Amino acid sequence: MSHSPASLGTFPTPVEPAPRLAAALGLGPEDLWIKRDDLTGLGGGGNKVRKLEWTAGAALAEGADTLVTTGAPQSNHARLTAAAAARLGLAAVLVLRGSPGASRSGNLALDGLFGARLAWAGDVDRAGLDAAADEVCARLRAGGARPALIPFGGSSVPGARGYVRCGEELDAQVPGLRTAVVALGSGGTMAGLVAALGTEAVLGVDVGALADPAAAVAQFAAPLTTREVTAEGLRVRRDQVGAGYATLTGPAAEALRLAARTEGLVLDPVYTGRALAGLHAAVRDGDVRPGEKTVFLHTGGLPGLFGHQDAVAFAEGGAVAFEA
Ligand SMILES: Cc1ncc(COP(=O)(O)O)c(C=O)c1O
Repeated sequence: MSHSPASLGTFPTPVEPAPRLAAALGLGPEDLWIKRDDLTGLGGGGNKVRKLEWTAGAALAEGADTLVTTGAPQSNHARLTAAAAARLGLAAVLVLRGSPGASRSGNLALDGLFGARLAWAGDVDRAGLDAAADEVCARLRAGGARPALIPFGGSSVPGARGYVRCGEELDAQVPGLRTAVVALGSGGTMAGLVAALGTEAVLGVDVGALADPAAAVAQFAAPLTTREVTAEGLRVRRDQVGAGYATLTGPAAEALRLAARTEGLVLDPVYTGRALAGLHAAVRDGDVRPGEKTVFLHTGGLPGLFGHQDAVAFAEGGAVAFEA
């Protein structure tokens, strides 16, 4: 890659201690740190900002005038692609799975605020979504525009490069780090961390977005490091997918409540809730131990909480009437 990344976020993001959450998980009070990548700045923040610095930066360098990307209706990546486009003076078209539903809240509300155009692809699989995006690009080109396709989830080798930098920040911020725990969706975030920190230092918690998430991580990480990276050598948990990507699992709901009530920290139902549930399970089965330095990567996703009916109902259910 010859271009430089676009400057979209505020870095380095802070690392904060989480002693009360640590104790609730069964760790020592000084064992757990939160890397606040929910505070990356642009468009409500989140992990996708680091990737977009590289992918949208490349699009800009190549003369694109429109960013096109794909995702689920509540895609944080699509929302942040729309925000990046606005920041860079580009147009955005988001090709989303499904059809316009009754609820337009959460990320969809922000997509509208950022001025993105939406193209609903219907009930399609990943190949169908990619085909719909290709068609949108062809139509844009026919109309004289210069579209650039940002990959699903922002995950590609260039996108993962943004997370190499996050790994380098962690190296400096948390000396002696044993495990960084991160949600694993399309793979680029874990890939960059693995390239920077090594396979042993990163625990990915699969959210169920891909059939073979470890293969995706290895594919994106290998070109970014001289370390040996194989899919089999990665630390990946697949026990938090539950009934599927968009569902609120019991452990994720419990994790949302735990983070909120111990640290005032808001997680999202699809990614960071599952990641914390995965960390809890890892402490229970001894993969993460007291006395070791552990970092939980908060990758954002707060708007997705408000776009998820079950999560909103669960959160509201926690409010108890005050009785004197
Ligand atoms: C809030 C949040 N956390 C984590 C992830 C997972 O990142 P990746 O797709 O790079 O695996 C995503 C991806 O959509 C996300 O939106």
